[in-house]
Amino acid sequence: MANDPTAKTLAELGAADAAAVVRLFGEVHEQFVRETSIAPDLQSWEELRNAWLGRKSGALTRITENWLKTASPALRPTVGKCLNELRAQVEARLGELQQAIEAGAEASAMARDRVDLSLPGVQRPVGSRHLIRQTFADIERIFLSLGFTVVEGNEIETPYYNFEALNIPEHHPARDTMDTFYLETPPGAPQWLLRTHTSPMQVHTMQAKQPPVRIIVPGKVYRRDNPDATHSYMFHQVEGLAVDTDITFCDFKGTVEYFVREFLGPKVKTRLRPSYFPFTEPSVEVDATCVFCGGKGCNVCKQSGWIELFGAGMVDPAVYGFVHYDAKKFSGFAFGLGVERLTQLKYNINDLQLYFQNDVRFLRQFA
Ligand code: DAH
Repeated sequence: MANDPTAKTLAELGAADAAAVVRLFGEVHEQFVRETSIAPDLQSWEELRNAWLGRKSGALTRITENWLKTASPALRPTVGKCLNELRAQVEARLGELQQAIEAGAEASAMARDRVDLSLPGVQRPVGSRHLIRQTFADIERIFLSLGFTVVEGNEIETPYYNFEALNIPEHHPARDTMDTFYLETPPGAPQWLLRTHTSPMQVHTMQAKQPPVRIIVPGKVYRRDNPDATHSYMFHQVEGLAVDTDITFCDFKGTVEYFVREFLGPKVKTRLRPSYFPFTEPSVEVDATCVFCGGKGCNVCKQSGWIELFGAGMVDPAVYGFVHYDAKKFSGFAFGLGVERLTQLKYNINDLQLYFQNDVRFLRQFA
């Protein structure tokens, strides 16, 4: 404060009576009112408080030192009274300002932290099941409803389980249809391979328990094929096996027909065509009326009206020999569903590679 009166004594200021003292205090108070007329922020409030109430250099300390302590005994009561009034006014006003600052800070913090419930929430993309998984689930649902249970097996097998015990001895021509991935093993060590079909689980299951057996085996299989529209070195199958004391070819046919109708729809008809698999006798290919032309004949079914679905048959008694089942007592049937093929027919997909390229534009169509 330029020309600050509080820096001088009353005598220096020429205040010789009570009225002069009261006037001086009035001026100081006016000064205070001016300085606190603009709403301060926290920092300038602290500066104000120091300037007025600071113990060492505040204006009130200076008044005490320069005015009160040097006042004549006659003026001292007036100075003391005025000083007390001024102190009360200064403290009250600074208190008010402090409250206002705190309230303002709180209000702006609330404004800053306000949650706007009208804003859209965080949207997390929801994934969906891969088409192959959907077909697995479809197949499982149908066979579970017939009393089958789902088992899974290892993707690595020995040649015994993948071939021999399924009645495919070494040098059997049926092995030629399955170009096999063998694992690298030290010379002389037992051989391992990536299973070429899910059929080995027939053998594992029958070894582990006596009939009745009713299982399906969904899983991955591997063949040494070059990828193209109809080949993949990895694909999926669902094996099926039912063995009991009284299973006939009628049970087999009924089960197969029920499955095809449930999977492809009630209009589809089936037929069994003679075929050959080493582990079934008789063996069949299950055909369905073409899903694309309804049996009239089209490009897909090569004008025949029929399309091949999967292989199946009655379990060859030779297989029972490998698992110590009594072939005179037990009979059963087996089937091997190609999951990619069934999916292709149901959803009209013309390239096997689409399943595995993971292009979301393809996958989203079936979400
Ligand atoms: N394992 C055969 C394959 O991968 C498919 C198959 C055919 C399985 C007939 C069966 C069956 O259980 O009875 O080519």
